[in-house]
Amino acid sequence: GAIGAAGLGLSIGTGTGAAVEMGEASAWTREHANSIELTDDLTAPVIDENPDVISDDYWIWDTWPLRYRDGSIAKIHGWQVVFSLTASKDLVPGARHNEATIRYFYSRNGHDWTEGGTAFENPLGHHQWAGSAMYDHEQDQIYHFYTATSPEPEFRQRLALGKGASLETGPHGVDLVGDQEHVIMAEADGELYQTLEQSRDQGIVYAFRDPWYFRHPETGEDMVVFEGNTPTDGEDPSDPRSYNGNVGIAWATNDELTEWELLPPNLEAIEVNQQLERPHYVLQDGKWYLFVLSHEFTFAPGLWGPDALYGFVADSLYGDYEPLNESGLVIANPEAAPFQGYSWLAMPQGNDVLVESFENFRGLDDTSRGEIGLDEVGFLPAEEQKELFGGTLAPSLKVQLDGTETRVVAELNDGHFIPSGGSPNENGNGRGR
Ligand code: FRU
Repeated sequence: GAIGAAGLGLSIGTGTGAAVEMGEASAWTREHANSIELTDDLTAPVIDENPDVISDDYWIWDTWPLRYRDGSIAKIHGWQVVFSLTASKDLVPGARHNEATIRYFYSRNGHDWTEGGTAFENPLGHHQWAGSAMYDHEQDQIYHFYTATSPEPEFRQRLALGKGASLETGPHGVDLVGDQEHVIMAEADGELYQTLEQSRDQGIVYAFRDPWYFRHPETGEDMVVFEGNTPTDGEDPSDPRSYNGNVGIAWATNDELTEWELLPPNLEAIEVNQQLERPHYVLQDGKWYLFVLSHEFTFAPGLWGPDALYGFVADSLYGDYEPLNESGLVIANPEAAPFQGYSWLAMPQGNDVLVESFENFRGLDDTSRGEIGLDEVGFLPAEEQKELFGGTLAPSLKVQLDGTETRVVAELNDGHFIPSGGSPNENGNGRGR
């Protein structure tokens, strides 16, 4: 089947003779999710008034830093770069998803961000959803992984790569330059990953998106992890089996990173949750910490969990993932502001992780609980919707990792912080197959 071919030619020139790592999916179970509890250690503080908006013209939501091939944050001639999903502030917040455009911002200190421009000239898809960006310093080119999405109401999603761009830095800023070539990396295959058609009657949302690049630390393979769904026989939204979120994996079969093959998912949340969004790893002390985001409204019938960052830990890529803090909960929005933040991204910083996110519906309190869904606050007048929405980067949070336990230890009150980048790690490049 789809997996078999991955067994061919694996040792070619990785330098280690290692084969691509493959295995079976671990499970996030109803029993785990049943033990979700909002304790102080696992809850974000309420965001204070934050007048420091990074763009006057655009809503900003999912954001990711430019990283080197080894996963460390890139710093090029003193500049760090982040990419964000953006849309005009003329739109009501709920309409932004259909018009998402990736723009870049640059900074010298990791928290004061200046708007650059759009990331792509001719990207694939009607609009683009989340991804990740890798800078190969030897080739002086950016590999930009993103989601090519088709227009409403279809929301077909494909994993895409835009490559060829580079950066021109000067004393006053950063320019993205160079022609880009765009390719589709992968589409849902209907076996490992549910297709849009297979999902039609089942659930509330569908996913095949958010590719996040990583280089396997032992085998050196170029890989992406992404948000998918496992095909199940769930019949409609009242059927728990219709909730079938997974964390998908694909690996590059050529050096150009233009050809990819799907591997089995490494985590599934069948009968638990429909969406394991923006999956990403933090590798620490030989452990694989896998983080995902999810919403209250995508938990399966009979379960409850907050809009939150969730996490799991294993000894290897396909190891047996154990939920962090027993339930999987890592950072919940506070009960007083249950939709204040979303799209958390955990990045290593020393022995801790620094977690970046955006301000979502800050102004919504408990009373709105349950009313939020796919169309968010669409029932309110436009101006009121805009008032409630943050649409900018939230104060970052520091989280301690201690084996299978985690703890929110600080809110960085200077806001939009991304860990400070470094020079390229020589070991991380020029691997060649
Ligand atoms: C998370 C997310 C991503 C997707 C984007 C669409 O906030 O749902 O999974 O790429 O937002 O706007």
